[in-house]
Amino acid sequence: MKYGFVGLGNMATAIIKGMILSGNYAPANILGYDPAAGANLTAAGLGAVVCPSLAEAASADILLLAVKPQVMPPVLAELRSPALADKLVISVAAGRTLAFLQDALGPGMAIARVMPNINAKVRAATSAFAVNSHCAEAQKITVRDIFSTVGSIMELPEEQFSIFSAIAGSSPAFSYMYIDALARAAVRGGLPRDKALEIAASSVYGSAKMILESREHPFALIDQVSSPGGITIEGVCALQEHGFESAVHKAVAAAALKDTRFA
Ligand SMILES: NC(=O)c1ccc[n+]([C@@H]2O[C@H](COP(=O)([O-])OP(=O)(O)OC[C@H]3O[C@@H](n4cnc5c(N)ncnc54)[C@H](OP(=O)(O)O)[C@@H]3O)[C@@H](O)[C@H]2O)c1
Repeated sequence: MKYGFVGLGNMATAIIKGMILSGNYAPANILGYDPAAGANLTAAGLGAVVCPSLAEAASADILLLAVKPQVMPPVLAELRSPALADKLVISVAAGRTLAFLQDALGPGMAIARVMPNINAKVRAATSAFAVNSHCAEAQKITVRDIFSTVGSIMELPEEQFSIFSAIAGSSPAFSYMYIDALARAAVRGGLPRDKALEIAASSVYGSAKMILESREHPFALIDQVSSPGGITIEGVCALQEHGFESAVHKAVAAAALKDTRFA
C-alpha cells in the first residue's frame, strides 16, 4: 500500500514522521509532492519519496491532501480523474467539507475528512474524522491507523467539525497563549524566563493529564485546590472578574465561525 501526500508542509511532515516512527509504514511507501523546495528537503530527510509531479504522488493507493484550504480547489481540479476511483482520499484541510471534496473530485469517491492539530509534531494530536458514504469500514480503519501514529483520533459527525476544529484544531494556539501569559506573569513576579516557561507548560500539561486520568469534573478539581480564604480562590475569582471564560467562549465561537466560511 502506498500513501501519497499532496503538500509537504507542517502537517504533512508531522504525519509522515509519525507514520515512519511508528514502524508500521515503510518510508519507501510514502510519496509526497510539494512545489516548495524546503518542504521537499524536510520530507526527503524523513525518508519519504519526493515526487516531481502531483500525478506521481497521486499514483499512490491512498492520497493525503495537506495543502492550505485556499489551495484545495486547483489541486482537486488537477487530481480529478477516473483513475482516482479505487483510491481513498483523505483531506486535512480546515473547513473543506466532504460535499465540497466530493463535488470537486467527482461522484463515487471514498473520501475522509480529518481534522488533526499541530501537536501531531510531538505525536500528541487530538484528531477527528468523518467519511462519506462511499468509504468502507476497512478504509475507516486505514484513517484511524494513520492518524493514531500522531496521537488520538475519534470519529465525529461532520456537522460537529467546526466546533471540534475550534476546540482541538485551533485551541493549541489558545493554550500556548495561556502558557505564555502564565510565564510572562511569573517573569513579572521575578522568575527567570526559561524557568517560568518550563514551570507554566509543565503545570498545564499535568493539569490536562489530571482531568483526563481522574475523570473528575474540572470544577471539582478547582474546589480541591481552592482552600477557604486561601490563595488559589483569589486567582480564580480574578480570572473570572476579568472575563477569562467569556474570552475563551468568544475565541472558540470566532474560530468555529471562520471554519464554516471555507466550505
Ligand atoms: N498546521 C495545523 O495546525 C493544522 C491543523 C489542522 C489542519 N491543518 C490543515 O492542514 C493543511 C496544511 O496545513 P499546514 O499547516 O501543513 O500548511 P503548510 O505548512 O503551509 O503546508 C502546505 C504546503 O503545501 C504546499 N503547496 C502549495 N501549493 C501546492 C500544490 N499545488 N501542490 C502541492 N503542495 C502545495 C505549500 O507550499 P508553499 O508554502 O510554497 O505554498 C506548503 O509547503 C491545511 O489545509 C490546514 O487547514 C493544519
